[in-house]
Amino acid sequence: MKLNIAVLPGDGIGPEVTKQAIKVLKAIALEFDHTFLFKEALVGAVAIDEHNNPLPDKTLELCKSSDAILFGAIGHPKYDNDPSAKVRPEQGLLKLRKELGLYANVRPVKAYDTLLDKSPLKREIIEGTDISIYRELTGGIYFGEKKLSEDGNTASDLCEYSREEIERIAHLAFKAAQSRSKKVTLVDKANVLETSRLWRRVVTELAKQYPDVTLDFLFVDNAAMQMILNPKQFDVILTENLFGDIISDEASVIGGSIGLLASASVGDKYAMFEPIHGSYPQATGKGIANPVASILSAAMLLEHFDLHDEADLIKEAVEKALKLNVTTPDLNTIYDNISTNKVGDFIADFISHPKDSNHNFTNIHLGQSTII
Ligand code: IPM
Ligand code: MG
Repeated sequence: MKLNIAVLPGDGIGPEVTKQAIKVLKAIALEFDHTFLFKEALVGAVAIDEHNNPLPDKTLELCKSSDAILFGAIGHPKYDNDPSAKVRPEQGLLKLRKELGLYANVRPVKAYDTLLDKSPLKREIIEGTDISIYRELTGGIYFGEKKLSEDGNTASDLCEYSREEIERIAHLAFKAAQSRSKKVTLVDKANVLETSRLWRRVVTELAKQYPDVTLDFLFVDNAAMQMILNPKQFDVILTENLFGDIISDEASVIGGSIGLLASASVGDKYAMFEPIHGSYPQATGKGIANPVASILSAAMLLEHFDLHDEADLIKEAVEKALKLNVTTPDLNTIYDNISTNKVGDFIADFISHPKDSNHNFTNIHLGQSTII
């Protein structure tokens, strides 16, 4: 298969983790005889620095003319600490999601057997957790009208949803549940918010089309608690934009590190693949950022094109890396010198020589990876 992939490394650790995902995709292309062509463009703070625009037209055009987008991370402390900044890096990502119509953000959360003791949660609570979060991505309070009074003392953000916006992602969530454990949990705040009541009504009606799937409801405050108390009760979680943002960071604790969580943002026409973590400015350039979320996002990209054997091999390589402690310091209590780059090397190397990974592990330690 030939794929044109737009690469938007973005800010902070974005470029270093994305580099590993590309390395892994190149190993896959070689192994399975595919042609993946990568073209880079600027987004976020780096784009503001260069073009005074977090999403330059050129970047958007590249995304629209590509088959898929691989996204790194966005954000810079100089904007976080300046509430009066008119242009912000995050606007680049939000505009990208909106312009490309990426309304469904799929975030898988899994407890890896080899990492059960790395999570701050108890092993018996998280063991076997396998959740797929369907977060609505182009509506709600993120995109509603924003107001700030002239004296700067009153502000508001409008939260709005339409039936159509709810239906299109709900269909995807129900379809996903059909090939999983057949349960959808709608997370909302229907005891307070009108938009949540609309979600409940629309999703309840739509559920009739999926009689094999059970639908239940949780208020978001309770869901936040349940995620820690009993995450195994969840199969597919369907939720609106802001609740999905919060609950998915919380869920990342189950896996042991936010550096493991990948995501796919899909619409009717375009698809973008991005780790759920941020730009982690404190780690930039230090080689300590976990590239696994970016690498697993690349696996989701392959799944999107029905390249399941390829995606499975990446996942197998990641599991092998986790098992052998070829991981960055966020997950490693044994070796303290395994860099972002070494993790990428190991995973790419495993893909090229799956039978020979212990040997390659030694080579990587000696700086003699067979991957150039
Ligand atoms: C995410 C991020 C973004 C969001 C930020 C960077 C705008 O937190 O993808 O979860 O809030 O959606
Ligand atoms: Mg987030």
